[in-house]
Amino acid sequence: MTQQVSLQNALIDWFLKNQRDLPWRRSYTPYQVWISEVMLQQTQMERVVLYFNRWMDLFPNIHALARAPEDQVLKCWEGLGYYSRARNIMKCARILLEKHGAEIPSTRKELLQLPGIGPYTAGAIASIGYNRDVAVVDANVMRIFARIFNIDLIPDSPEAKSLHWEKAEQLLPKGQAREFNQGLMELGALVCRPRNPYCSFCPLVPYCLALKYDLTLERPVPKKRTKIIPIEMATGVLIHNGKLFIQQRLADDIWGSL
Ligand code: ADE
Repeated sequence: MTQQVSLQNALIDWFLKNQRDLPWRRSYTPYQVWISEVMLQQTQMERVVLYFNRWMDLFPNIHALARAPEDQVLKCWEGLGYYSRARNIMKCARILLEKHGAEIPSTRKELLQLPGIGPYTAGAIASIGYNRDVAVVDANVMRIFARIFNIDLIPDSPEAKSLHWEKAEQLLPKGQAREFNQGLMELGALVCRPRNPYCSFCPLVPYCLALKYDLTLERPVPKKRTKIIPIEMATGVLIHNGKLFIQQRLADDIWGSL
């Protein structure tokens, strides 16, 4: 067995034994995978599970979502932040209904044409939703690769991004993308964590160059701190005869249309 095949098997075996029980992992419908993946961008898993279950009660499929009033969809998203994600989901639902017979496409190329779907989400839907041989790279995957291969590049640099995508495509075992890609993300979330990795529980120890050279905390190369921009805002609360005045924000403002 080559080193690559034993790494793939070690990761998949670990995933099958240690994966979290998540609602979209019970049947892997592409619709559920799509919604969960968009919710998981910028939001913690425990929070996503609550929102996801509520969403599926209200909008169980593309037809229900495309018919729902925008206000109801935004209300369901309230608290998750980054509302452009919810607006793009609504735009997608209408396009899927009008142009794709209410089916989510299964190829990376078609998925990339849809609003709000970039290389990560397209890869996640194609591989997790359809088990197609398509790679995914997110921050978890980048951290694992930076450690296993001891990659000495700034993670956000174009050079690092293309190297990580190349590695993800090379390493992907044919026919097992669903388990392999989720295995990478799950390992990044549970074991190969940014600050306190649990290397003693890691199935990839035999392949990890950062561990071998004692560079685990140096990989990925730490980023410079992002600059915080303070914004001043004034808020008025209008209450009259026991009624509270609430105004919807302008569409192109911060928290647009909320
Ligand atoms: N984070 C984002 N997507 C994920 C997935 N499918 N499994 C585990 N963690 C994730």
